[in-house]
Amino acid sequence: ATHNLLLVPGDGIGPEVMGEVKKLIAYMNANGMGRFETEEAMCGGCAIDAHGVPITDADMERAKATDAILFGAAGGPKWDKVAYEIRPEAGILRLRKDLQLYANLRPAVCFPALAASSSLKPEVVEGLDIMILRELTGGVYFGEPKTITDLGNGQKRAIDTQIYDTYEIERIGRVAFELARKRRNKVTSMEKRNVMKTGVLWNEVMTALHKREYSDVEFEHQLADSGGMQLVRWPKQFDVIVCDNLFGDMLSDIAAMLTGSLGMLPSASLGEINPKTKKRHAMYEPVHGSAPDIAGKGLANPIAMIASFGMALRYSFDALKEADLIDAAIANVLASGLRTADIKGDGKAASTSEMGDAIIAEFGKL
Ligand code: NAI
Ligand code: MG
Repeated sequence: ATHNLLLVPGDGIGPEVMGEVKKLIAYMNANGMGRFETEEAMCGGCAIDAHGVPITDADMERAKATDAILFGAAGGPKWDKVAYEIRPEAGILRLRKDLQLYANLRPAVCFPALAASSSLKPEVVEGLDIMILRELTGGVYFGEPKTITDLGNGQKRAIDTQIYDTYEIERIGRVAFELARKRRNKVTSMEKRNVMKTGVLWNEVMTALHKREYSDVEFEHQLADSGGMQLVRWPKQFDVIVCDNLFGDMLSDIAAMLTGSLGMLPSASLGEINPKTKKRHAMYEPVHGSAPDIAGKGLANPIAMIASFGMALRYSFDALKEADLIDAAIANVLASGLRTADIKGDGKAASTSEMGDAIIAEFGKL
């Protein structure tokens, strides 16, 4: 089958790291490892410059029709003064919202070669491989009312509202259990049912879903605060952690830092099945931004972008073997000692394309 990919390089280092994925895709096409057809679209500052909006309706239509979107990064100081509605981030937010990408997957994997540079003890993180699953389209970031009111006595009142409906909890729960079945078969659900009604419902719905459809998966609840503590104390006890938008935002950033540099972290955001492609709407992107401080210098680490493509192979194209090979190639290249500047102590660092080429060469050998 042909795999359709919409490449959205974006701004800053986005096009540089995307360039390494393009080489990898060309290599796979040339060697009969899948048939990838790619198209490109603009999002972020580049689209503002070209069209006056962070993403055009035409590119949104292509995003809706493709099998998977690969996104680089958007934004930068050049566009800091544009109107709020058309700022570069508005393009990413529109992609997430219009495609209803409600499930955000953030793996935290510690490559053995980098265990010594983690902020935790090497034995705590060595071999770590967990998945934080964050609900991305609901909860307190979106709930209404969302207001600041002047109370007139020198006081103001700020209100944010957390709302979750059964269907929103159930659909993220399904993703969690299905992920776990392909991993180490364990799900930990985190909420604060002791003080929040959304936590009570979250707990209820997850428990019922587990009992009804996924009783083969090991399942536990933890309160999100002590869960956060456990995540730093002994992260290897977890496999898949599922939580709401706010807790997931915090816990995934904490988990990320267990494993090292921003330049290493991939992510995926999945939505409902697209009737046109029969696959879930999906966007894959590095966690990092456009890194204006190093853009244009060939210094960016392409690993987060390449690993994001690996997630596309795994979750959109069911190419598990190739996805495993990409992960192994990255691990081997790191073990050989090759490092970009962001993960290097001292000594000569590899450039973006030296790192990309080394990973592709290793991938070809495996
Ligand atoms: P950033 O992630 O771009 O950079 C933070 C630091 O990490 C910088 O020192 C940068 O050089 C370094 N870094 C990031 N990725 C790297 C890589 N692949 N290799 C080596 N070093 C890397 O975050 P920052 O500086 O807060 O934001 C810069 C711009 O990116 C802003 O305009 C921001 O709005 C945008 N941004 C976009 C995101 C997206 O497109 N999803 C996410 C985060 C920020
Ligand atoms: Mg965050």
